[in-house]
Amino acid sequence: MSNAPEFLVFGATGQQGGAVTRALLEAGRGVRAFVRDPYSEKAKSLAADGVSLAVGDLFDRASIDHAMKGIRSVFSVQTSSPSGLLTDEQEVEQGKSVADSAVSNGVAHLVYSATGAAGKGHTGMGHFDSKSRIEDYVRSLPITTTITRPASFMEMMMLPGMGLNTGVFNYFMRPDQSMQMIALHDLGRINARILCQPDLHAGRVIELSGQDITGKDLQEAFSRAAGRPIHYQRFSEELLSENNFLKRLTALVDNGVVAGIADIAALEREFGPMLRVEQWLSGPGKTLFENALSAEPSGIGLR
Ligand SMILES: NC(=O)c1ccc[n+]([C@@H]2O[C@H](COP(=O)([O-])OP(=O)(O)OC[C@H]3O[C@@H](n4cnc5c(N)ncnc54)[C@H](OP(=O)(O)O)[C@@H]3O)[C@@H](O)[C@H]2O)c1
Repeated sequence: MSNAPEFLVFGATGQQGGAVTRALLEAGRGVRAFVRDPYSEKAKSLAADGVSLAVGDLFDRASIDHAMKGIRSVFSVQTSSPSGLLTDEQEVEQGKSVADSAVSNGVAHLVYSATGAAGKGHTGMGHFDSKSRIEDYVRSLPITTTITRPASFMEMMMLPGMGLNTGVFNYFMRPDQSMQMIALHDLGRINARILCQPDLHAGRVIELSGQDITGKDLQEAFSRAAGRPIHYQRFSEELLSENNFLKRLTALVDNGVVAGIADIAALEREFGPMLRVEQWLSGPGKTLFENALSAEPSGIGLR
C-alpha cells in the first residue's frame, strides 16, 4: 500500500516532475501526480510505483482544483514555448493557475521550478521572462513558497544534432568558458527535500546547479567516457547565424544570464554532493550518452 499523498507533482511524466516524484517515492512519501492521460506508458508506470493519479489539464482550472484536495505541498512546473505546445502567455496563465488553486485549496507550501535565467531582469527570451513573471506572481500570494531556479540540464547535451556521433561535440560555451548545469537526478532530490521540509525553505529562492562546466571539461569527460577522442567546439558562427534561437541563448551565456550564479559549494553543504558530469556519464546519463554516441546523423534537437 502506498502512503496517502501529501504532495501533488505537476509534469510527473516529464523530466523535472518525474525526477521529483522518484525522489519523493525513494523517501517513502505519498505522491499524487497530475497527468493528462492516465493510460500513457509513463502514467501507468507511475501508478505501478504507487503514485496516485489525478487526471487533468493545466488549461482546465477545475481539474487543477480537484487534484489539490487534501494536498499539503505542490511542485509546480510548466512546459514552455520552445516545446511548441503553448505560448509564453499560456505558460504564465498555467503557472498562475496552479498557484491560485494552491491558495484556494489551502495548500501549505508551493514549490515553483523556474529557471536559472529567471529573476535576472528582462532577457528578451519569452520562455525565460515568462518564468520571472510567474515567480513575481507566486511571491505576491498568501502562501508559503520556495522558488527553485535550475541551471541547464546535463540531459540537454544528449539531444540530437550536438555531434557526439561525429566525434565533435558542439555546445554554447567557448572551450575555456564555463556554464552551470545540473543533472535531473539532483534537481529531483533537492526539490523533494524542499517539499519535505517546508519550514526550512519557506520564502527562499534557490539557484540550482551541480557544476561549472567548461567546453574543455566536456572534451575530457566525454573522451574518457567514450574511450575515444571527442573534440569540443562552440556552435559555429554559421549555425548561429542560421538559428536565431541558439544565437540568442548563446548571447545569454556570454552575458552571464544563462551561465548561472548558483553557489554550488553552499548547495553541497546543505543538500549533499552534486553529480559532476563524469559521474553523471557513468550513472544516470550513461544510456543517453551511449545512444547519442551511436545516433544516426540528424539536425539539431535543441529548441
Ligand atoms: N531543459 C533545460 O535545461 C531547462 C532548464 C531550466 C528550466 N527548464 C524549463 O523546464 C520546463 C519543462 O520541464 P521538463 O523538461 O520537466 O518538461 P517535459 O519533460 O517536457 O515534461 C512536460 C510535462 O508537462 C506535462 N504537460 C504538458 N502540457 C500539459 C498540460 N496542458 N496539462 C498538464 N500537464 C501538461 C507533460 O505531460 P504529458 O505526459 O501529458 O505530455 C509532462 O509531464 C520548461 O518550462 C523549461 O523552460 C528547462
